[in-house]
Amino acid sequence: MKPNPQNSVFSPHPEDDHWENTLRPQRLEEFLGQQKVVANLKIYLQAAQKRQEVLDHILFSGAPGLGKTTLAHLIATEMGVTLRATSGPILEKAGDLAGLLTSLQKGDILFIDEIHRLKPIVEEYLYSAMEDFCIDVMLDQGPNARSITIHLPPFTLIGATTREGLLSAPFRARFGILEKLDLYPPNELEQILLRSAKILNVHIDPDAAQLLSQRCRGTPRIANRIIRRIRDLAEVQSGGHISVEIAQKGLEMLGVDEHGLEEMDRKILKVLLQHQGGPVGLKTIAVSVGEEERTIEDVYEPYLIQQGFLLKTPRGRVASPKTLQYFRQTQSYPQSFLF
Ligand SMILES: Nc1ncnc2c1ncn2[C@@H]1O[C@H](COP(=O)(O)OP(=O)(O)O)[C@@H](O)[C@H]1O
Ligand SMILES: [Mg+2]
Repeated sequence: MKPNPQNSVFSPHPEDDHWENTLRPQRLEEFLGQQKVVANLKIYLQAAQKRQEVLDHILFSGAPGLGKTTLAHLIATEMGVTLRATSGPILEKAGDLAGLLTSLQKGDILFIDEIHRLKPIVEEYLYSAMEDFCIDVMLDQGPNARSITIHLPPFTLIGATTREGLLSAPFRARFGILEKLDLYPPNELEQILLRSAKILNVHIDPDAAQLLSQRCRGTPRIANRIIRRIRDLAEVQSGGHISVEIAQKGLEMLGVDEHGLEEMDRKILKVLLQHQGGPVGLKTIAVSVGEEERTIEDVYEPYLIQQGFLLKTPRGRVASPKTLQYFRQTQSYPQSFLF
């Protein structure tokens, strides 16, 4: 069966929300892997609880689908506080933020997703809220305009970002806790796949789970997407049982090869080879493959870099010998690279 690139298993899907809530761990104990991050968080949580203090502001960074939102919710559950969620691009002006901040109770969590996309004016407005728990609010307009200072109950800001590097230094400095999530190793993904299979009520053979764990580019969200798709196949073809054969067949249908690469990855790498291996600018790659620069950087590159297919240099993206070897093996390397 031919893979359908429009239906990439790696890019965002609208139906994810429902499933993510079903599969999302409900307790910190259920959050698998990322041991260092979890161990650190447990200490911070316990210390804050012991001192009856509000938890320090936290910044989670890492590629999409690694568990940043999940951790924010789990922290709220563990602390027994309410979480209010918003995201960087939604907050247009300082007033939007003021409304949210004044609705918080002591210890509550304000979760800002994609925090690197906050407008500078909103970001600066956050500074005094984070540091001194107070904000200035403008009353009236025109000649009667005046500002008053409102004191906020101490709260915890949790920011999530796929691009820590885009945060300004003064902003970063206001977070007491910075935790970076890395791609998951296959053994941790295997545990996540087994857990999800149980929740989805599908039987999966251990060798099938092991196979799938190596093909979901280190990302729990992708692991969950893959198992849902393969469950469909299993239901139609094998009475709901995921054997290694069904897993193999499903991966083929999804266009995921033995390196965990899919159509868009191959397109990106081919662009590099078409330019004699690079360096190629991100813009050129984006135009050539018809994908947004941001998506290429956030969704595709982290895994390509981790697997050593693509190198980032100051002058652009460069293919590695592994890339050439990969296309040699699959016999589909672009002719232009040969001459
Ligand atoms: N460590 C984990 N253990 C189990 N499931 C996880 C873990 N991390 C993420 N997930 C699953 O992956 C999905 C995506 O995680 P999410 O927190 O939304 O990622 P992010 O916010 O970093 O993009 C969640 O719905 C959850 O089911
Ligand atoms: Mg998220």
